[in-house]
Amino acid sequence: MNTVDIIIKKRDGHRLTAEETAHMVMGYTEGSIPDYQMAAFLMAVFFRGMDREETVTLTNVMRDSGDIMDLSAIEGVKVDKHSTGGVGDKTTLIVGPLAAACGVPVAKMSGRGLGFTGGTVDKLGAIPGFRISLEESEFIRQVNEKGIAVIGQTGHIAPADKKIYALRDVTGTVDNLSLITASIMSKKLAAGSDAILLDVKCGSGAFMKTQEDAEKLAEMMVGIGNSCGKKTVAAITDMEQPLGRAVGNALEVREAIDVLRGCGPDDITELSLVLAGMMIYMGEKAASAEEGREMAEEALSSGAGLEKFRQFVAGQGGDPRVTEDYGILPGSEVELEFVAPEDGYVSSIDAMKIGLASQHTGAGREKKEDDIDLAAGLCLHRKVGDRVSKGDVICTVYGNNVKKTKKALEEVVDAVKISEEKTEPGRLVKKIIG
Ligand code: URA
Repeated sequence: MNTVDIIIKKRDGHRLTAEETAHMVMGYTEGSIPDYQMAAFLMAVFFRGMDREETVTLTNVMRDSGDIMDLSAIEGVKVDKHSTGGVGDKTTLIVGPLAAACGVPVAKMSGRGLGFTGGTVDKLGAIPGFRISLEESEFIRQVNEKGIAVIGQTGHIAPADKKIYALRDVTGTVDNLSLITASIMSKKLAAGSDAILLDVKCGSGAFMKTQEDAEKLAEMMVGIGNSCGKKTVAAITDMEQPLGRAVGNALEVREAIDVLRGCGPDDITELSLVLAGMMIYMGEKAASAEEGREMAEEALSSGAGLEKFRQFVAGQGGDPRVTEDYGILPGSEVELEFVAPEDGYVSSIDAMKIGLASQHTGAGREKKEDDIDLAAGLCLHRKVGDRVSKGDVICTVYGNNVKKTKKALEEVVDAVKISEEKTEPGRLVKKIIG
């Protein structure tokens, strides 16, 4: 099979056979197809799309590119949760411990940041000592003993996605329905859980900008998950403005702990309770998502969720003192403020621009091999609908490089709009599918 012919076939808008898709995916994974040909192929898919059958084939080939994890040694219904990617989305750090505190075994594989969106693996990397790579046996032992473990994508699970994901990140080929579906579902199906909860983000800071596209993505993923025998549910949630106030790795760990202490921002607290409730229900520890939510609320107010977070961090080698002393997290040397130029209300905060600003502080990658600055990022002191007076600090930008931090500040100024009229933020949970 000729690689160039397959690229041209997709470039010209034709359907690929299963053999052609497998040739591209496996050739790239095994190293016989170089980055530049795979990049051209991904761009052709980006512009020409894939139909449902091609997308299912792509997902299956990527799933079968590595091992399928066997989690049968963990008792109970294992529920995996995955976000399609957003700005300030640190819900896994909150929802995981809450669900685990309510008896749902959480055995989760997470990803690095992608494009302007953050990733749980990078956030956990900010906790001193935290080990994101565990052997499979250690991973299973940690879930059995502590109730929760989160690992990065291992080389054995969907290795095709691991390689393609990193290439998409730096070639402008992330936000495509088929590529996102195959990326997420290949690794979720290989990761061995019994049920899958998808948080499909929608809005400026998501890969799906409209609710219509988010619903199409959710339906595709839910259909594939259920047809593979995994109970799969998707929540379509708002990503028009960043979730919570903090964007950037160490800053988001702090905010997740604030939520677990009961003093986090309202929006991220609310969404975490909704998702934890759904996970507890899907894990068969509650008779409904509402009852699951009540259990999650109890785990939050009693401190059981925070205690579970401590056990989780310590179990993976991290320093559990992080829950009392944020000073042990990486710190930044440069802090710049965006001050309100006039009185009014915050009418919009473009989440994508904020995600890019955070990336440009050093918190995200421009190239796939880039190191990230774990301390860098930003904190929004005002959100959509909040009143501001001239001189109030709307946002603080953190970094360790003056030039980068200044550039990011300019981008934040461009992202935040103030008007005389009060605007209400969009509904946090827009629809449940599945
Ligand atoms: N998350 C993933 O794992 N893959 C994507 O393509 C997008 C978000």
